[in-house]
Amino acid sequence: MNSYLIMFTLLSLLLLALSPNPSLASTRNYTDDTNASIVPRYSRYVKDACNVTRYKQLCVRTLWSFTIVAKNNSSKWARAGVAVTITDTKRILRLLLKTRNSSAVGKRERIALSDCRELYVDSLGNLYQSLSVLRKLDADQFQQQMSDLATWLSAALTDEDTCLDGFEETMSKSSTVRMIKRKATRCMHLCSNALALTNKLAYDGL
Ligand SMILES: *[C@@H]1O[C@H](CO)[C@@H](O)[C@H](O)[C@H]1NC(C)=O
Ligand SMILES: *[C@@H]1O[C@H](CO)[C@@H](O)[C@H](O)[C@H]1NC(C)=O
Ligand SMILES: *[C@@H]1O[C@H](CO)[C@@H](O)[C@H](O)[C@H]1NC(C)=O
Ligand SMILES: *[C@@H]1O[C@H](CO)[C@@H](O)[C@H](O)[C@H]1NC(C)=O
Ligand SMILES: *[C@@H]1O[C@H](CO)[C@@H](O)[C@H](O)[C@H]1NC(C)=O
Repeated sequence: MNSYLIMFTLLSLLLLALSPNPSLASTRNYTDDTNASIVPRYSRYVKDACNVTRYKQLCVRTLWSFTIVAKNNSSKWARAGVAVTITDTKRILRLLLKTRNSSAVGKRERIALSDCRELYVDSLGNLYQSLSVLRKLDADQFQQQMSDLATWLSAALTDEDTCLDGFEETMSKSSTVRMIKRKATRCMHLCSNALALTNKLAYDGL
C-alpha cells in the first residue's frame, strides 16, 4: 500500500518536473542545472547509482522515476531499489496464488509452484523488514542496520533463486510455468540490484 503511494507521489513529481509547459518548468530553480538540460543531468544520477548493480539496464529502467528525489543520495536509492522489488515480488506472489488449482500443469510443476509460493512469502517478509530499516536509518546503529539489511536481502535473493531452481528439471512446456519463470527471473534481478544498492549505501555511509 505504502510503496504504491510513494511511487505515485514520485511519479507525479517527475511528471511535473518534466512538464513541457515552460511556465511550470521555469518556476523551479534547479541550481545545479545551470549548464545542462534537466533530463541528461538527472539521467546521470540514475546511471551513477545503477553502476554498482549487476543488471544495470534493468536498474535504470525501473528506477529512473526516483531520480529527481534521490539524486546522489545512496540511502534513497537503496530504498527505491527495495520498494521496486517489493512491488514486483507482490505481483509474482499474486500470479503464484492464481496458479494454485491450475490443471494446466503437471505434478512436479505443481510442487515447484507450491514451493515458490512459500519462498515468495518469505522473500516478501525479508523485503518489508529491509524497507522498514531503510526508512529509519540512524548513524548510531548504522553498522548493525547495514548488517541486518545484508542478511535479509541476501535471504530474499536466495529464496527467489531457489524458486527458479525448482523448475530446473521440470522441462516445462506449460506456458503458465514459462511465464512465471520469466517474471521470477526479472524479480530476482531486481532483488540483486537492491542488494547492490544497499551495499553501496554501506560503503558510502549516511
Ligand atoms: C536560483 O538560484 C540561484 C543560485 O544558484 C539564485 O542566484 C537565483 O536567484 C535563484 N532564482 C530564483 C528564481 O529563485
Ligand atoms: C562505472 O564504474 C566503472 C568502474 O567500476 C567506471 O569506470 C565507470 O566510469 C562508471 N560509470 C559511470 C557512468 O559512473
Ligand atoms: C551529492 O552532490 C552534492 C552536490 O550536488 C555534493 O555536494 C555531495 O557531496 C554529493 N554527495 C555524495 C554522497 O556524493
Ligand atoms: C539522504 O536522504 C536521507 C533521507 O532519506 C537523509 O536523511 C540524508 O541526510 C540524505 N543524505 C544526504 C547526504 O543528503
Ligand atoms: C483450490 O481448491 C481447494 C479445494 O481443492 C479450494 O478449497 C480452494 O479454495 C481453491 N483455491 C482457489 C484459489 O481456487
